[in-house]
Amino acid sequence: SMMEALYRNIGNLTVSRLCNQHVITAVNGSLPGPTINVEEGDTLVVHAINDSPYNITLHWHGIFQVLSAWADGPESVTQCPIRPGGRYTYRYNITGQEGTLWWHSHSSFLRATVYGALIIRPRKGSTYPFSSFYQEISLLIGEWWNANVVDVENDATETGLGPVDSDAYTINGLPGDSYNCSQNQTYEVHVKHGETYLLRIINAALNEQHFFMIANHTFTVVAIDASYTKQYNTDVIVLAPGQTVDALVTTNQTRASYYMVFTPYHSNPNVGINANITRGLLVYDNATSASPVMPNLPLQTDTPTAHKFYTNVTGLGYGPHWVPVPRHVDEHMFVTFGIGLDHCNETGPNACNGLNFRLSANMNNESFVLPKGLSMMEALYRNVSGVYTRDFPSNPPFVFNYTDPALETNGTEIAFAPKSTKVKTLTFNSTVQVVLQNTAILARENHPIHLHSFNFHVLAQGFGNYDANVDESKFNLDNPQIRNTIAVPVGGWAVIRFQANNPGMWLMHCHLETHLPWGLAMAFEVEDGPEPWKLPPPPADLPQC
Ligand code: C2O
Repeated sequence: SMMEALYRNIGNLTVSRLCNQHVITAVNGSLPGPTINVEEGDTLVVHAINDSPYNITLHWHGIFQVLSAWADGPESVTQCPIRPGGRYTYRYNITGQEGTLWWHSHSSFLRATVYGALIIRPRKGSTYPFSSFYQEISLLIGEWWNANVVDVENDATETGLGPVDSDAYTINGLPGDSYNCSQNQTYEVHVKHGETYLLRIINAALNEQHFFMIANHTFTVVAIDASYTKQYNTDVIVLAPGQTVDALVTTNQTRASYYMVFTPYHSNPNVGINANITRGLLVYDNATSASPVMPNLPLQTDTPTAHKFYTNVTGLGYGPHWVPVPRHVDEHMFVTFGIGLDHCNETGPNACNGLNFRLSANMNNESFVLPKGLSMMEALYRNVSGVYTRDFPSNPPFVFNYTDPALETNGTEIAFAPKSTKVKTLTFNSTVQVVLQNTAILARENHPIHLHSFNFHVLAQGFGNYDANVDESKFNLDNPQIRNTIAVPVGGWAVIRFQANNPGMWLMHCHLETHLPWGLAMAFEVEDGPEPWKLPPPPADLPQC
């Protein structure tokens, strides 16, 4: 296994977007940041040097971090932030996974500009479980604010209103020709007629799921979240923030250019249509020019189309790349989550917009707080009490009609949740099944729930309240999809199963960026197992708070 050493400088970058110049935080002077290319089995070493004015951490979304939990990166969970002027080296092996992943800042809203692709190819002598392709094309969907993104987050948490909408979506950092002053900031990829390309698509947007289409072209999905799937043909791809899709596309058309478009999927039927879409161009070399064709986009509220894609993709179900579903479950959990309220006791013109409450979020009625002073995993390693407690409830504290649409307007009495830092402790190697149940309190929407360190099997998903008596019979135990981020259907549920085979402190949270600081999170504390399955000592350069 070879060693890749990469240097990442995090600092100010001046870019022009949407008719103005902006100073953003970026890695190695580029937006998106550099692509990391590795092979399965490699060891990756990333020296993070923070020349920005902000506290920052880097997270490797979807990487298992086998016995390298100190490199995972979520601020306050596995490390304190790298302070301005500070540095930290992330070092980990990439084992047992291939496909498209990505890396992003795991501090405040900085991942709006601090992100990039992390592509894991098969090791030498190993092959993809699908036919060969001519070239690869990476597409990262991003979200752009003209305002400073750290201010955007602080406003969202302090005023207790949602974040202001972003000003544009981007493809590989470029807004595209549907925005002002952006005609020459349209992502273009040149292709040859009659070839097959592998698209590596990443939803790095902060707050929106997206539909993706290329006019007149169809896709064959071959992987999701760096986990191979049975080949699935579709003309529309859907991704929630955090998710990735690998798809083959054949260039079998005759015009000179075709629009490739991301348009948001609004799962909340009460949220208005957002005019913003971002488009790039698929340009055929040696074809005579003509105006590009637009695809027929789904409506932004088209839940049936999103649900069809999200549920119809299945895992491979066989072969050396397949991980069978563990059949014996050691821990059963039922976790409700959604938006809630906090009391607001501050006074002053900006405090909660003159109201005595602010928006918040919770899991099993606990609104998660990231501790200050010591990271949770250092507290675990050094046996320091008072940083977190081990009483995260395995079940909701009270039963109600979780997805009753009436809760959107009259759910306020049950919207208040205590603030806490509670974890669920898991025995090493135990198999955990979690029913993820959305609630309709204040807002019905699809929440993309991301689990650090572990891929999980998605056994079933549906609308309404999960009912074991009926829904267990729907479990796919043969070839369910394997993911690290599940878009739990709006007003609905999903059942996931994973094996807790890596010691450490692992966050599970909503990947809509406002919802993490609001408290839509919890953590799994996975205990040490037999040698060598122990949490290693922290690296000497681990940042201190
Ligand atoms: Cu992609 Cu906890 O993050």
